[in-house]
Amino acid sequence: MGRKKIGIMVSGRGSNMQAIIDASRDPDYPARVELVISNREDAPALEKARKENIKAKFIPGIGRDWERKTLDLINEKEIELLCLAGFMRVLSPEFLAQAPPVMNIHPSLLPAFPGLNAQKQALEHGVKVSGCTVHFVDSGVDSGPIILQDAVEVKQDDDEEKLAGRILKTEHKLYPRAVELWARDQLEIEGRKVKIKEEKGRG
Ligand code: GAR
Repeated sequence: MGRKKIGIMVSGRGSNMQAIIDASRDPDYPARVELVISNREDAPALEKARKENIKAKFIPGIGRDWERKTLDLINEKEIELLCLAGFMRVLSPEFLAQAPPVMNIHPSLLPAFPGLNAQKQALEHGVKVSGCTVHFVDSGVDSGPIILQDAVEVKQDDDEEKLAGRILKTEHKLYPRAVELWARDQLEIEGRKVKIKEEKGRG
């Protein structure tokens, strides 16, 4: 069976994008990154993707026009799954209705601390445990069905940078795993819940 074609949407550094690319070096990994799209021309992720010989495109503009151009490119490259990885824009319901399934990674245990600066929100709230979440994207902010989560202890002397760094390491394991589960057809969405099915024909 061919590997699933995935597109990654970024706005910045791209370490989660890199983690997915690194995972896909394994010939048994069931997906490969075909396209990287950024809404920011200066996103370091674009350069990282180009070094890996992956088509990486900055799409200028905003709103419907931006989404139309982005969808055209996604269709042209026959992308089957879109992964948001540090992509700092909310996609419209019209975009989501026309796009392939979309996943996102968020640096908190959703539904706690959606939106911007999740690690800062966690520290300010005084939680003892935070973490990260991979979820399907719906038209809300960080609100779609949860695929995987992993917990990270919040330490007494943490500042935002230290906590974000430890969460990020966990993100780099969680996101490639979620993509793998999807690509092996092991995810079943029932309303808000995502069930993980046994894999057929392996093990
Ligand atoms: C990651 O921590 C990701 O979870 C977060 O931005 C960072 C991107 O880092 N995303 C969000 O906060 C989305 N709401 P990266 O560019 O190195 O992958």
